[in-house]
Amino acid sequence: MEFKEELRKYKNEIEEELEKYIRKDACPERVLNESIEYSLMAGGKRLRPILILATYKLFKQDIEKCMPFAIAIEMVHNFSLIHDDLPGIDNDDFRHGKLTNHKKYNEATAILAGDALLNQAYIVISKAMLKTENKYELELKIKAFNEFSIAVDRMIAGEYVDTEFEGKDISSEYLEYNYNNKTGALLRLCVRMGVILANAKEEDLNKLTSYAEKIGLAFQIKDDLLSVEGDELITGKPVGNDEERGKCTYISKYGLDESKTVLKNLIEDAVKIAEGYGEKAEFLKELALYIMNRNK
Ligand code: IPE
Ligand code: IPE
Ligand code: MG
Ligand code: MG
Repeated sequence: MEFKEELRKYKNEIEEELEKYIRKDACPERVLNESIEYSLMAGGKRLRPILILATYKLFKQDIEKCMPFAIAIEMVHNFSLIHDDLPGIDNDDFRHGKLTNHKKYNEATAILAGDALLNQAYIVISKAMLKTENKYELELKIKAFNEFSIAVDRMIAGEYVDTEFEGKDISSEYLEYNYNNKTGALLRLCVRMGVILANAKEEDLNKLTSYAEKIGLAFQIKDDLLSVEGDELITGKPVGNDEERGKCTYISKYGLDESKTVLKNLIEDAVKIAEGYGEKAEFLKELALYIMNRNK
């Protein structure tokens, strides 16, 4: 199957599944639920759930076994985006070409929608664990769950560091720490959960974690590049906002050319790791290239 087609197929599968978790009943918190649906179904790339499924598929075919983790990660990701856009963090008005959650609804709703999504993620995972009768399989899920909660904690720490360092010129070490946490932690988690749930070997966990760390850092550098050179009509989020807020990014620190070189090198490394798995990792290889070449 051609890469773009496979990407679309994964995205559709994930969105069909996500729909099942949207609460539509009439209840006093109906508007909160609407705001959650508004953000969750706004048109994200679904990269994180795709990464879990595609990594799992390197080893096993029954991807429905990791679907609850894929859904949960997309929930957490959307929690992070809703809170990231809040006035107290990045103060952005547009995402996915639409008003951000707090602009469409209000700040209280956006804060609570994020909180709800974070907790709904844990509901989805714990329900999947409760339904698992096979003791061995349950152990793998507990292991994935443990990694999940640690990575979410790291992402939040990264978001803190990101706001704390705003307006300051930070060291390259801190900058990398920031990116590895705010963005890298969840992407790394997705790959690791795919490997863990498939019960693959420690050696694969290490190799693929390295792949994930490369694409994780690359992903944020590309996000920075899009925030300088991107087309708002395509990215659906503001261009120039990092500079406006005095964010220290790869671009402000190393310039456009050097950042692009670092990005290219990271992706080349990731591609090499994927190539080590031959034909069956063609999708992961293409996904790394997509992270570098995407325009949204
Ligand atoms: C944006 O992530 C936030 C970062 C971590 C840089 P995505 O680009 O994956 O967000 P979607 O595709 O809009 O969900
Ligand atoms: C996003 O970082 C990281 C998280 C949301 C955890 P950014 O603030 O750089 O991402 P965008 O550009 O708003 O999507
Ligand atoms: Mg931010
Ligand atoms: Mg932001």
